[in-house]
Amino acid sequence: MYARIAGTGSYLPDRVLTNRELETMVDTSDQWIRDRTGICERRVAAEGQTTCDLAEQAALRALDAAGLKPADIDLLIVGTTTPDVVFPSTACLLQHRLGLGECGAFDVNAACSGFIYALSVADQFIRTGSAKCVLVVGAETLTRMIDWNDRGTCVLFGDGAGAAVLRADPEPGILSTHIHANGGYGDLLKTDVGVSRGFLAEKGGGVRVSMRGNEVFKVAVNTLGRIVDETLAANQLDKSDLDWLIPHQANLRIIKATAKKLQMSMDQVIVTVDKHGNTSAASVPLALDHAIRSGRVQRGEKLLLEAFGGGFTWGAALIVY
Ligand code: UT7
Repeated sequence: MYARIAGTGSYLPDRVLTNRELETMVDTSDQWIRDRTGICERRVAAEGQTTCDLAEQAALRALDAAGLKPADIDLLIVGTTTPDVVFPSTACLLQHRLGLGECGAFDVNAACSGFIYALSVADQFIRTGSAKCVLVVGAETLTRMIDWNDRGTCVLFGDGAGAAVLRADPEPGILSTHIHANGGYGDLLKTDVGVSRGFLAEKGGGVRVSMRGNEVFKVAVNTLGRIVDETLAANQLDKSDLDWLIPHQANLRIIKATAKKLQMSMDQVIVTVDKHGNTSAASVPLALDHAIRSGRVQRGEKLLLEAFGGGFTWGAALIVY
């Protein structure tokens, strides 16, 4: 039994934050941001609009595309690093909103790799026959933990959500998923405060992302190169067998490096980072939904999804759409 993509959906908040606006906030330029990241604009959730609100819209669109009702879902997994509250999990909040019944529902925190991790878990449930129809969501409000005075991070991140409904099917489907982590790199991309460590009064109690960008960049390029090799080898496939690369949308230069490693033309790579920046766990399902709705990706084609993020975590999925 394979996990087959039955439908996808995505959602971006209305508010657009342009590079030009960021020029008025920190010492940066539209040119620098475009040249170094490929980002032109990002979205920011409205005041009071939460990760669950974004997730709900993406999930409703995915259910609609799949032609399924909430009652058909028997497992819900949400990849997020920016939950509405510590608990209930965003998955439990979303389950109730969507009226999914009493299916299992939980969050996965793997930073930017959250959707790939969640997809991997969903795939295991479907392969073993434990679930027939799984809703997988990646949703984030990263801008809520951005230091708007730090030009090294504030130009990069944005808010959004993406979702996919997976159904058990004798036809492929997800061929394989691969997840990895190395906590030894934790300090390169992190937040310093939390429930158990405590919140620092002098920092206003806020959670803030800090990143040693250039070091993250180098490890990301190298690691993504290795995970795509691992994924192809596990399926005894060659680079030339791939139809599409649907990468994590963090930096266009990282995406181009992975495409080059795969000897794929940029025409075979889905790029949406220009429109929404790095939306962490939402980035891969946003790109996937764009690829499908725009008609670029067709049924039967082979897609390689990959992501890399804080932890470090990384992962890939090879899928016949
Ligand atoms: O999704 C999770 C994983 N995250 C990532 O994959 C992000 C990985 N990292 C990156 O995408 C890139 O490293 C960045 C886009 C963050 C930075 O690009 P870079 O080419 O690695 O630049 P850099 O950090 O080496 O900085 C180059 C220069 C520095 O100035 P000096 O020291 O050369 O004078 C920075 O201070 O660019 C400066 N700089 C900026 N200048 C204008 C850093 N941020 C900015 C900025 N605007 N926003």
